Amino acid sequence: MDKKLVFASNNEHKLEEMRSILGVSYFIVSLREIGCFEDIPETADTLAGNALLKARHIKMYYNYDCFADDTGLEVKALNNAPGVYSARYAGELKDSEANMRKILKELENLPDRTARFRTIIALILGGKEYLFEGVVEGEITKEARGNAGFGYDPIFVPHGYNETFAEMRADVKNKISHRAKAVEKLKAFLI
Ligand code: IMP
Repeated sequence: MDKKLVFASNNEHKLEEMRSILGVSYFIVSLREIGCFEDIPETADTLAGNALLKARHIKMYYNYDCFADDTGLEVKALNNAPGVYSARYAGELKDSEANMRKILKELENLPDRTARFRTIIALILGGKEYLFEGVVEGEITKEARGNAGFGYDPIFVPHGYNETFAEMRADVKNKISHRAKAVEKLKAFLI
């Protein structure tokens, strides 16, 4: 296997997920493994913009084929907020509990609790740029439920299910999630 692809992340959980899906055909390399330790700017105001910023940084400064992802929770009644600002919705501390409380408060008197997670993956391969999107539609609960997962998982119930992402087994979530769908598209393109 000689095809090397940098994934612009140091998140072990995500790297593991990518390796299990793409690992048969590609050697997936982390930022640490290429010696990239700087904070890559994520200053765009769209998910695609941020994913591209990260992938272009790797291509420009390290000259590797690479891909990067960016994810947001989009709540319909909040004009698709927090979207690209999901990680720091309640402030720079990136506190998931505070982020969830803020959404529950904002939705308190609003009847429409429709929301979706959206992931964009930007791939730079052979000097060309490609984008892949994965979406999972669902509803925001009235209160947080479950301990698994991370981020907004305890307040999101995907359509067709009764449990929140945080109440589901990881393998169930990882089959239907926004990220899984985007990675499956990337895989279909690459392999
Ligand atoms: P990232 O682009 O994957 O770093 O995601 C940005 C933010 O979106 C995270 O900090 C989380 O708050 C949220 N997020 C991303 N993916 C998920 C998920 O699968 N479940 C819950 N929250 C998520």
